[in-house]
Amino acid sequence: MKSTATATKLALLGGTPVRSKPFPPYPTIGDEEKKAVMEVMDSGHLSSFSASRQGFLGGERVQAFEAAFAAYHAMTFGVAFNSATSGLHAAVAACGAGPGDEVIVPPYTFTATATAVLHHNAIPVFADVDPVTFCLDPRSFEAAITPRTKAVIPVHLLGHPAEMDQIIAIARKHKLKVIEDCAQAPGAKYKGRLVGTMGDCAVFSFQESKNMMTGEGGMLITNDPELAEQSRMVRNHGETVIAGEARKYLAQTIGWNYRMTEIEAAIGLVQLKKLDGLNDHRRMLARYLLDRLPSVPGLRYPVEPSQAHHVYHVFGMTYDEKQIGIPRQRFIQALVAEGIPAGTGYPRPLYHNPLFQERMAYGKQGCPFTCHLYQGTVSYAKGLCPVAEDLCAQSALWTFVVRPPATTADMDDIIHAFEKVVESIPELKE
Ligand SMILES: Cc1ncc(COP(=O)(O)O)c(C=O)c1O
Repeated sequence: MKSTATATKLALLGGTPVRSKPFPPYPTIGDEEKKAVMEVMDSGHLSSFSASRQGFLGGERVQAFEAAFAAYHAMTFGVAFNSATSGLHAAVAACGAGPGDEVIVPPYTFTATATAVLHHNAIPVFADVDPVTFCLDPRSFEAAITPRTKAVIPVHLLGHPAEMDQIIAIARKHKLKVIEDCAQAPGAKYKGRLVGTMGDCAVFSFQESKNMMTGEGGMLITNDPELAEQSRMVRNHGETVIAGEARKYLAQTIGWNYRMTEIEAAIGLVQLKKLDGLNDHRRMLARYLLDRLPSVPGLRYPVEPSQAHHVYHVFGMTYDEKQIGIPRQRFIQALVAEGIPAGTGYPRPLYHNPLFQERMAYGKQGCPFTCHLYQGTVSYAKGLCPVAEDLCAQSALWTFVVRPPATTADMDDIIHAFEKVVESIPELKE
């Protein structure tokens, strides 16, 4: 273990912490966002979804945000939502997955990737993740395919792109739709291609912790006009309105109110212009850390293989207790005591949640798992996805603070704290 710091007494053992002030708050809301919101307020219209075809498509700013977001990705259609969860639900519905069908998802992700499948009464089937990138493992994905599989949702987790060439090749071979979950990775690239441009459709989140944000919000992008129109109908009560015709209140399919407001869209237009700069800032901070954090056998910092352009939504590491000599939780406690926010990440693979263990989604009869239309035998048994289980139980180590407006001086505190903790491992064993 190499370190340049002179170990001083750990804060956890009564010493002085490296840092006593909090990291700068996130997100930052600039004058541009404030001005854009005030313009909406002054316009007197906060939504503008209405009875005409134009109104069915959303308010002025919603449509402008959709167009700008699609253009950023060189895609044809953007469909704005009030969250990525609702956008993912619409994507599942628009891709034709429903009762009796299966959709393959990773278990090492946020709940919504899988519950969006249940929202449309389809069954989530879990395939394991890669231990280095934390994203869907193509071999595990292929092994999970059954005659009932309709789609796959690869997640570009923590800002790192999933292995899309292999995932798409497998999906095409089995005639499956690919829905990219880009909630954590707007602006990330795989082999030079932006995430969200490789599958049949993709969904982004603008919830306020994300790399670009509107408070709450989401966006689906696609080149497929049918997927775009179907997802607009799911967004808007299952109705559509034909240009030049009066609204008929005709529900063509089951729909919800998943509409984005003008305020969110106005913020989104400003944030989209900042996205590359915000991501560059994350990348600069991550590079600064990667060049300076102590090299420790058993501690692996985030990787950026040559095919990947990582946008570091989270600075995700892996930790090997056997090599390092103290439990992960002890190491984290020592970092936190030094003033560095750190944690273990997702506490369990999604299928360990009672929702899946007890198979209770709708009502008390086990719907949709027990639906007579479902002929499969999905497993949520412990041991199903060993890599995801290991990441949750013992090896993942995350910190969220590698993001703007933090500076390299803030990163110096992280480096110093890591050095201090690493040098003090013998004392932490006692
Ligand atoms: C991978 C992933 N998918 C989906 C979502 C859902 O996003 P939203 O909060 O916008 O519904 C999140 C949010 O954290 C996420 O991290």
